[in-house]
Amino acid sequence: MKATQNNDTLVLHTGNEIDGQFGALSIPIYQVSTFLQDAQGNTKGYEYSRAGNPTRNALEKAFAAIEHGARASAFGSGLAAIAAVFMLHDSGDHVVVSNVVYGGTYRLLTQVLNRMGIAATFVDTTDLGAIEAAIKPNTKAVFVETPTNPLMEVADLRAIAALCKKKNLKMIVDNTFMSPYWQNPLLLGADIVVHSATKYLGGHSDVVAGLVVTATEELGEQVHFMQKAMGGILGPQDCWLLMRGIKTLSVRMEKHEQNARALAEWLCTLPEIKKVYYPGLQSHPQHEIAKKQARGFGGMISFELADAALADSFLNRLQIITLAISLGGVESLICCPAKTTHASIPVEVLNRLGISDRLVRFSVGIENVEDLKEDILQALQAE
Ligand SMILES: Cc1ncc(COP(=O)(O)O)c(C=O)c1O
Repeated sequence: MKATQNNDTLVLHTGNEIDGQFGALSIPIYQVSTFLQDAQGNTKGYEYSRAGNPTRNALEKAFAAIEHGARASAFGSGLAAIAAVFMLHDSGDHVVVSNVVYGGTYRLLTQVLNRMGIAATFVDTTDLGAIEAAIKPNTKAVFVETPTNPLMEVADLRAIAALCKKKNLKMIVDNTFMSPYWQNPLLLGADIVVHSATKYLGGHSDVVAGLVVTATEELGEQVHFMQKAMGGILGPQDCWLLMRGIKTLSVRMEKHEQNARALAEWLCTLPEIKKVYYPGLQSHPQHEIAKKQARGFGGMISFELADAALADSFLNRLQIITLAISLGGVESLICCPAKTTHASIPVEVLNRLGISDRLVRFSVGIENVEDLKEDILQALQAE
C-alpha cells in the first residue's frame, strides 16, 4: 500500500491485508492453540497461540500503525495490558502516577504491585512541578492518564515527555479516553501507550481487551515477553471483533465528539447542573493544552448535579442513556464513578480529589443529540 500517515486509511489497510489464500477481506479467525511443525523446530512462523497467533498479529500490526508506534501487543483486558507494562519494572523501583486514574489502575498499584516491591506516588500530573518533586533516585517511569477518568483533567504530554527525557524515565500514557483517532502520545514523546480497547476501540460494548504500543522495537519486545511470560493474551475471536470495531473508529469518534460538544455546552446552561468537565469547553482550565496536543476533545463528559440528593434518582430515571459502567460504546452510558469505577479508591482520597457522589460520568453515544437532551431533561425534572 502507498505510504500514508493518515489514520482513517491506515486503520483499514494495515495488518488486515487481504488473505493470501482466498482473498478474504476480513482477516480469518485462527481459532487454534498450536501449529504444525514440518520437522522439529520447522514452523511456518507460528508455534503456539500464547506466543503468537495470526489473527492477533494482524490486530497488533494495525494498532501499532494507528498509534504510530514500533510494536503493539494485545491483552485480555486493559488492566492486563497495564499490569504487563508495570511488570517491566523490578522490585525496588518507583513510579509517578496521575492522582486521578481509573480505579483499577489505582487498585493494581496499591494492592498488588506494592506487594511486589513496585512503589507508586500519585500526583497531579497537570502540574509539572508536582511530577518533578515526586521523582526519586529509584523512579523509573511516569504514568499519565489524560484526560483523566473521571475529572477530564488534561496533562501537558510534550512537557512531561521533555521532563522524562531529562530524568531518563519512561513515559507511559493511558490513551483510552482519546483513542488514537484524536491523540497519539508516541508522537508527542511518550515511550509506551496503553489502552483499554474495551472502550472506543471495540466501540460496541461487546469485547474486553487491552493494547500496549511502544515507541521502539526494543521496548515492544520487552512487552511481548511479558505477554508470553504472564499469558494474558487476547483470544482470536476477540482480536477479530476488535479489528472490526477499529475499522469504523474514525466515523464513530467524529459523531461521539459532535454530540459531546453540543451536550457539554447545553449542560452548562442548565440550573440543575453545577459544573461541567469537558476539555472542549473554552472554560476548561487546560483547554489550550488539549487543543495543542490532540486533534479533538473526545466523547467523554463529567458533570456535577447541583442537588447531591438528586443524583441517584436522576440516574435511575434516564431512559435512553444507559446506567452502566464502561464507556466508549456507540450507546450512551452514564455512571457515578465514586460508587462504581472508582469505588476501590478510599473515600477520603476521592473527597480530596473532588470525585463526589454528585459527580456523574457520561460516555456520550452516537444517538440523536436531541433525544439525549430530552432524556436528560425528563430525568432532571421528573417529580
Ligand atoms: C482509562 C482506563 N484505563 C484502563 C481501564 C481498564 O480497562 P479494562 O476494563 O479493559 O481492563 C479502564 C476501564 O474502565 C479505563 O477507563
